[in-house]
Formats: sequence, structure tokens, C-alpha cells
Amino acid sequence: MDNSRKKYIVANWKMNFTTGEASLYLNKLSNRIQPSRKVQIVLAPSTISLQPLSLQVNRRQFKLAAQNFYWREYGAYTGEVALSQIRGFVDYAIVGHSERRYVFNESEADIAQKVAAAVRSNITPILCIGETALERKDGETAAAICDQLASGLHEVSKEDIDKVIIAYEPVWAISSNKNAKPATPTDIIEAVKIIRKYIAKLYGKDAAEAISVLYGGSVNKDTSAAYLELDGIDGLLIGSASLIADQFCAIVEIAKGVNK
Ligand code: PGA
Repeated sequence: MDNSRKKYIVANWKMNFTTGEASLYLNKLSNRIQPSRKVQIVLAPSTISLQPLSLQVNRRQFKLAAQNFYWREYGAYTGEVALSQIRGFVDYAIVGHSERRYVFNESEADIAQKVAAAVRSNITPILCIGETALERKDGETAAAICDQLASGLHEVSKEDIDKVIIAYEPVWAISSNKNAKPATPTDIIEAVKIIRKYIAKLYGKDAAEAISVLYGGSVNKDTSAAYLELDGIDGLLIGSASLIADQFCAIVEIAKGVNK
């Protein structure tokens, strides 16, 4: 019997690709990637492309994720998109990405509401957490990670914690940042230990063991194997490398080959 844990490979396309380009790119990926029960591939296009891609996608092959949404059901929130409007298109939603936190000043309170709204809507939130370069320099990595977990999961009950995925994305490692450098395996193992220990404190040991924790930050096809082999890491959240078919397909193949 194959006892290995499910791996997640999540592509965050950010604000790239027109709807036409996204459709062509999805077609390219569909032709090159065989579905696998071991690896869940999740694509997060721009909101505008979710509806057309949801009609095109083979959900056995790929699931779709929202990059963002607003947590209220409907109403006078100019420019926002509610989960009730995209529920049929996506199975996952990225929440608390550092670009949302620091470019758009998304608050911890909003992030907590978004995680809760996604869980209520049967959409799996991928809660992104991670320290800034300054926090790391000041020795505040653990505090930053635990604070973000405490606030982001504030509205999530013990019954629902298995519906959440955590992505550890140290802000200084994300390729869009000046002087970005990938995290070392030691950095990641340490952070994942902190994450699981804190989840154990909040929700118990079983929840801490069961929760999926991904790594994200400057991952490419040459570095992905080493990250996927790390103890406690269940997958990758990939930005820039996910926009290049050769890179992304190679990473998916590597994930399929990881046995742990
Ligand atoms: P990157 O982005 O892979 O380009 O560093 C990761 C992310 O922002 O999720």
C-alpha cells in the first residue's frame, strides 16, 4: 500500500496572462501533465480567468484556486469579488499572501475572516505565513510565524482545521522581492517545526501531524526536489517558475517521484 502523503503543487500566476493566454497555457499544461493521485496540482489564475478556465479544465488533472476574494457574501464593496460568485469555479483559495499583506495592507482581521469564509464555503484556504527579512534579522521569526497562525486561524474550530493548508513563505525568499534568496533546507525545517508545534498547541497533536504545510519562495525545477524531500513539507507554492511550462511540468514530475 502506498502510505505516502499527498503532495500539493500550487501555481500562483499572480497578475500575469490575459484570459486568452491563460487558456492557451492551461492547454499546454494539460497536454504535458498526466493526472496523478499522489500529487494535487492547483492553478491560481487571475480572478477574471477563473470562469473560462473552470469550463476548460479537467478537474481530475488540475484544480483551480482564487488568488483573492472578499469574505462578505455580497453587498456594496466596489471592486471586490465574493466567494459566492466564484464558488463553482474553485476548490482552493490563497489567503494572506505577503503581496496582499504588504502591497495591499490586508489586515490580520481580514485574513482571519477570509480563512473562515473559505472554510464555510467548502473551499480550502491556503493560508500563507512567513517572516520578513527584518523580523528574521531581529530574531523574531518564530514570533512572526506564531502570531500569523494565531490570527489567521482565529475563527477556525478544531473540527475544521483539517480543511486548511498552510504555506510557509518567508517574505525575503519570494522572487518579487529585491535581493530575494531562496530559504535553505535548515531554515525551512526549523520553520515547519515551529508551525506544527504551534498547531499542536492550538488544535492538538493529531491536527499538527495531519495538516499539510507547503513551502514557497523562489522555487524552480532545480531546487524543488530538495524542498519536497524535507521532513514536514507536503508541497510547494510556486510563483515565477509556474509561468514557464518547462519549469512547472518538471516540478510536477519531480513531485510525483517523491516517496514520503
Ligand atoms: P516565487 O513566488 O516562486 O516567484 O518566489 C512565490 C509566491 O509568491 O507564492
